[in-house]
Amino acid sequence: MDHTIDIAVANVSKTFATAAGPVEALRDISFTVPPGGFVSLVGSSGSGKSTLLRALASLETPSAGTIELGGQPPLQRVRAHELGMAFQDSALLPWRTVERNIAFALQTAGLPKDPDYVRHLIELVGLRGFEKARPAQLSGGMRQRVSIARALVTRPQLLLLDEPFGALDELLREKLNMELQRIWMHEGITTVMVTHSVAEAVLLSDAIVVMSPRPGRVVDIIEVPFPRPRGTELLRSEEFFRLCATVSDSLRSAEPAA
Ligand SMILES: Nc1ncnc2c1ncn2[C@@H]1O[C@H](COP(=O)(O)OP(=O)(O)OP(=O)(O)O)[C@@H](O)[C@H]1O
Ligand SMILES: [Mg+2]
Repeated sequence: MDHTIDIAVANVSKTFATAAGPVEALRDISFTVPPGGFVSLVGSSGSGKSTLLRALASLETPSAGTIELGGQPPLQRVRAHELGMAFQDSALLPWRTVERNIAFALQTAGLPKDPDYVRHLIELVGLRGFEKARPAQLSGGMRQRVSIARALVTRPQLLLLDEPFGALDELLREKLNMELQRIWMHEGITTVMVTHSVAEAVLLSDAIVVMSPRPGRVVDIIEVPFPRPRGTELLRSEEFFRLCATVSDSLRSAEPAA
């Protein structure tokens, strides 16, 4: 498969109409992701990261501006099953095994079952031997990995991840970050990930979009120049800490003065 889908977000704004009046979630957001690129969105709670990701998945319509995925509107990519998502609240079906949770994504996409690909994905996310386990028998990290496998099942060209490793301990998170990097390098999927972890963003991304508190605006786009694959040595290097500090400073500068 050739991966040619880029992302172009241009001047996107989103205001929600609520009973309490309009809520301006996003203001004039612009950024691009080249084909096969990895971009993270960071910003404080309520800065519109999930709203933006949902707009990329055609689950929200921008009030202004345009989003193009490989030159097409998001809905078209979703309909073609070219977009995989694992969202903040994505839950597994508790009564289905790992294998069948992943296969279910094929079924809902109306695609034929492909047991070989399901097996390949289980291997890819490191869950071999757990094919027949139910979600309750898995750890939190394993469940997250099933969510990612499920997002990949339609062989998407685009992957959207909303805090995929949010509730995990540091070490497990680091391990899954390495796995995500490996999967992303292997599959070459254009990826946008929302995270609250600056280290995670720096480790995985080609570029980091720093967003301001509501209304979410782009404060900075910080390029991450480290060569890949990036390993645990990088996590302990001075250059890594320096770039994390740059991102943190940018986040801080976006906060209203106390
Ligand atoms: N459907 C909706 N209707 C009304 N307001 C909404 C809706 N969805 C989001 N909002 C508002 O838009 C703002 C941005 O929300 P969003 O969930 O995108 O933030 P976030 O950056 O993902 O936050 P977090 O880091 O806590 O997940 C919030 O103020 C939220 O209340
Ligand atoms: Mg969110």
